[in-house]
Amino acid sequence: MYQDLKDKVVVITGASKGLGRAMAVRFGQEQSKVVINYRSKEEEALEVKKEVEEAGGQAIIVHGDVSKEADVINLVQTAVKEFGTLDIMINNAGFENPVASHELSLDNWQAVIDTNLTGAFLGSREAIKYWVENDIKGNVINMSSVHEMIPWPLFVHYAASKGGMKLMTETLALEYAPKGIRVNNIGPGAMDTPINAEKFNDPEQRADVESMIPMGYIGKPEEVSSVAAFLASEQASYVTGVTLFVDGGMTKYPSFQAGRG
Ligand code: NAI
Repeated sequence: MYQDLKDKVVVITGASKGLGRAMAVRFGQEQSKVVINYRSKEEEALEVKKEVEEAGGQAIIVHGDVSKEADVINLVQTAVKEFGTLDIMINNAGFENPVASHELSLDNWQAVIDTNLTGAFLGSREAIKYWVENDIKGNVINMSSVHEMIPWPLFVHYAASKGGMKLMTETLALEYAPKGIRVNNIGPGAMDTPINAEKFNDPEQRADVESMIPMGYIGKPEEVSSVAAFLASEQASYVTGVTLFVDGGMTKYPSFQAGRG
């Protein structure tokens, strides 16, 4: 646990399931004040709120689609209105869908870019604006992916969104470092969350993905939420502009394992 996270106000987008949910609960354990953003299922968001409160934190839920500017502005304003300030902004909402690139529609491309990249930009912009205006040394955590560096056929829109997130984060980190505002990415590998449920419930596909992970197993959401807590805490006070990969070694060219090549 990180003492300095107690009473900190943290906004988490897409927090009604998966990694967002795990982070909400973790910040609850840290006794933070958690703003749970959700897009569609209010009942799931209310469940997460209950989990956060049971873990020792405070929580509110805020509906909103991160690809819509007005919703993101409302999200940050609601956090400040309800909890008095904002300390940590976690841009986690994201999605993917496989399509051969030559058949990918502009609408599909745009939808993924709008949520994964533009949504993270809007969340970062609104949080940073508030911090600059109020002289607060806040920090942003963007949920990127190993696919900010690993190309991914059938997911060109997703890979482009995460690749964009890499330089967006590095640029924001550089721009706001003089103000003490930190901006970092987490780059998960293959994690056990609903986004992957279909794939990982099939033993053959699960084993195939596991074979690409040097540590040999699919990651647990708590292995990401612990890293989010670290990056948000004062223990990471000198860390900015990095992507912290949480991937069991997936980005380390596993095909070269055992001295091949
Ligand atoms: P998930 O599908 O379990 O949860 C994603 C959440 O984001 C859902 O609650 C969904 O409703 C919400 N969301 C999607 N679009 C939204 C929008 N426009 N506005 C607000 N909320 C929206 O997925 P998971 O696994 O928890 O993923 C979270 C983040 O982590 C995503 O950005 C994903 O790209 C990233 N990631 C996940 C990995 C994994 O293996 N699970 C690996 C690498 C990155």
